[in-house]
Amino acid sequence: AEEKTKGPFEPKFEDYQKVYKTIAKLLEEKDDYDDGSYGPVLVRLAWHCSGTYDKETGTGGSNGATMRFAPEGDHGANAGLKAARDFLEPVKEQYPWISYSDLWILAGVTAIQEMQGPHIPYRPGRSDRDVSFCTPDGRLPDASKEQKHLRAIFGRMGFNDQEIVALSGAHALGRCHTDRSGYDGPWTFSPTTLTNDYFKLLVEEKWQNKKWNGPKQFEDVSTKTLMMLPTDLALVKDKSFKQYVDKYARDNDAFFKDFSDVVLRLFELGVPFTQGEDARWTFKSSFDEAA
Ligand code: HEM
Repeated sequence: AEEKTKGPFEPKFEDYQKVYKTIAKLLEEKDDYDDGSYGPVLVRLAWHCSGTYDKETGTGGSNGATMRFAPEGDHGANAGLKAARDFLEPVKEQYPWISYSDLWILAGVTAIQEMQGPHIPYRPGRSDRDVSFCTPDGRLPDASKEQKHLRAIFGRMGFNDQEIVALSGAHALGRCHTDRSGYDGPWTFSPTTLTNDYFKLLVEEKWQNKKWNGPKQFEDVSTKTLMMLPTDLALVKDKSFKQYVDKYARDNDAFFKDFSDVVLRLFELGVPFTQGEDARWTFKSSFDEAA
């Protein structure tokens, strides 16, 4: 029989689902990290790639994976994210056909789903770009500021008040590190499971100024083991933000739905997709497979 000439490899849903599974397995195996999981720092990597987007100029966003290069990788806001990029290096070696920019976002999706969050639909189409596409420093939010700053930064990406609050629910995950941001501690008692606990704690706990030798942050009065940043508390100080904090504190399903919708948009900012929105895929998580 005549052998057909093979065209270039065109990865399909199954191929990306394989990458997902590999990342999920690695998350399970490499538990010698903060609270036993690289999940939170992978979410932060995907967010910091995407959150550089500027809707006026169309620059920044997750296309390009320009954080690989010194100027952007060294921005203060990106301190510590090398741990996430290094974690994904063996995955890139195993699947050389995937771009870093698609891989980093897929890893964010995987981490959210594997930490029991909602499904985040995904489509590939990001390509890696050179150092000249690095964004200037200062596009990501500054935790020492408040509502005006949050609206300016997230407004530049195209997000409204409700979306800013939904996105902030990601702080149910992970922790602050003194050697990265200067801040210290986790926001919730279960920093490797996504829930609406961040919102519940914001409304149900009393928060006081932490007395310490570091930047201004808040601690819960009852246990003094949890933290909030000035930008986190801005969400309950501001009336317009607060209505959404209350809603998500009461209703985890509403939080999950809005979180999925807004993270999907965040992760697609600035990407010149060739396929339409109906081409998005939903990956199976380990929990779906066990069911
Ligand atoms: C961690 C600030 C929004 C996800 C952090 C840290 C800071 C910070 C200071 C600690 C970094 C460290 O010391 O390791 C902010 C500010 C935001 C914001 C000012 C403005 C609202 C977001 C958004 C997401 C996100 C929109 C995702 C959708 C995370 C995660 C961590 C984190 C998962 C934990 C990382 C880890 O455990 O290593 N954030 N963030 N943040 N942020 Fe945010």
